[in-house]
Amino acid sequence: MTHHSKKKHESEGEWEPKIIGFLCNWCSYAGADLCGVSRFQYPTNIRLVRVMCSTRISPHLVLDVFEAGADGILIGGCHFNDCHYMTGNFHTEKRVGLMKRLLKEAGVDEKRLRLEWVSASEGEKFSKVVTEFTEEIQKLGPCKARTDDMVKAKISAADDASETFRLKALVGKEYNLLSKGNAYGEEVDPEKLGGIIDAASRDEFERALILELARIRPMSVKQLGMVMDVPTDKILRHIVLLRQNSKIAMEHPEGFTPVYKTIAIGGEQ
Ligand code: FES
Repeated sequence: MTHHSKKKHESEGEWEPKIIGFLCNWCSYAGADLCGVSRFQYPTNIRLVRVMCSTRISPHLVLDVFEAGADGILIGGCHFNDCHYMTGNFHTEKRVGLMKRLLKEAGVDEKRLRLEWVSASEGEKFSKVVTEFTEEIQKLGPCKARTDDMVKAKISAADDASETFRLKALVGKEYNLLSKGNAYGEEVDPEKLGGIIDAASRDEFERALILELARIRPMSVKQLGMVMDVPTDKILRHIVLLRQNSKIAMEHPEGFTPVYKTIAIGGEQ
């Protein structure tokens, strides 16, 4: 793919945003190609990855890329009703909703993730979107996953939460529930469903963060509550469930408050 960069005058050590663009083969990638061929300019901070459909981009992939140090991620797909796989991009929209929910929980500005529909004939739009997005990320500054261990732990927890059966099932069914109704053919209230997904995302994120923190060092309910800024009664409810699922173990040093330690995969503590 051809693209033309604005000349940069980088002094040594000056920060430049790292942006990854996941573009679907049939529209956005072709749009980006047309952008290059038509000699529209856009910043060189973006690295493009071609995927067959925008719906191939999972929350897990996006959160993993943030964890690895990206400052911004752009997802580009076909306009509604133009997706090569019929309803792929309708599902993409719902998945991006979950990604944004989890980024918010992790304390990462959700503006770092952008979803755009760009067709094969919209080369100029592609250039505009990338330029605007790069400016936005420049304003936000570096994503702290590279420098702040707590931010890294939170993004990792968001990533783990995105892989839970509950969130995958909820978001996987979201589009069909809203467009076709529930199993009884009844309409589903979007606001109510949104509220259910919000609450589930928060719970799964908090549980994943408990496991992330208690993996580094055993912690009491009070300590977890303070570090996570979550009421202790809620932490306790999460701990009860995590213990039932053999994810966390209690240690009770004599004369001290019990502390909890994440059980490593395979059963070893
Ligand atoms: S093929 Fe482009 S979004 Fe599905």
